[in-house]
Amino acid sequence: MSDPFGRAVRDFHLDEQDEPLVQRDGEETLDHPIERFYFAEFTVDDEASEWLASWVDGPLLDVGAGAGRHALYFQERFETVAVEVSDHLVETMRERGVADARRGDMFALRESFDRDRFRSALVVGTQIGLAGSMQGLRSFLGDLAHVTTPDGTAVVDCYDPDRDEAAELLGYRDDPTPGLAHRVMSFEYEGDVGDALLFRLFSPDRLRAATDGTGWEVAAVRYGDEGPHYRAALEKV
Ligand SMILES: C[S@@+](CC[C@H](N)C(=O)[O-])C[C@H]1O[C@@H](n2cnc3c(N)ncnc32)[C@H](O)[C@@H]1O
Repeated sequence: MSDPFGRAVRDFHLDEQDEPLVQRDGEETLDHPIERFYFAEFTVDDEASEWLASWVDGPLLDVGAGAGRHALYFQERFETVAVEVSDHLVETMRERGVADARRGDMFALRESFDRDRFRSALVVGTQIGLAGSMQGLRSFLGDLAHVTTPDGTAVVDCYDPDRDEAAELLGYRDDPTPGLAHRVMSFEYEGDVGDALLFRLFSPDRLRAATDGTGWEVAAVRYGDEGPHYRAALEKV
């Protein structure tokens, strides 16, 4: 499978990245800042990182772990399993020192892990939007509940379509339904264009609605300093 995103991040890690990783929606493109997004060391030294860490305990499942910036921090504190769909990223995480980096699909958690296997889960990077629909989101949250303990917690993130700035995101597609939108884009690296990625964007209220019947409730929501990005902490009902 073509994996321009994983290849570019891996090339950056190997100091072999000669071309930019590009996000594309038709003719519109944006260079994706690999170093800043995936290689900045995660430390708990400000209000945002303190907030994140306060919702996480071990054993931890890092879902869509990228180059492993969170796993590298949390594995020093408790057992951490980092899951990635990209072989390039699994390899990159192992070389960077992530102790338990595995290839896996975030949409097949029930098949991959036992019930109650983890105390917490991190789903950071807006990949939860790949659930594609409210029903897909419900189903993902149900599976995440299955592999976490009855006192489990999770942190997920998304862009809130109800914030004005959301429309400026590359690939943004409006939806007349309040609290919902789509985002469509592909990654391109060295002439290789990946499959189109379809993200469902949902507001915190939509996320609350999606948790219904999954075993989760939204315990807290935290927006970034600016823009539509937010993180939500989930805890078991
Ligand atoms: C924006 S990155 C975030 C990486 C990391 N969590 C971070 O914050 O640095 C999103 C990640 O999700 C991964 N991903 C996408 N679909 C996935 C799937 N179905 N299963 C597992 N990981 C997936 C991508 O390969 C990518 O590394």
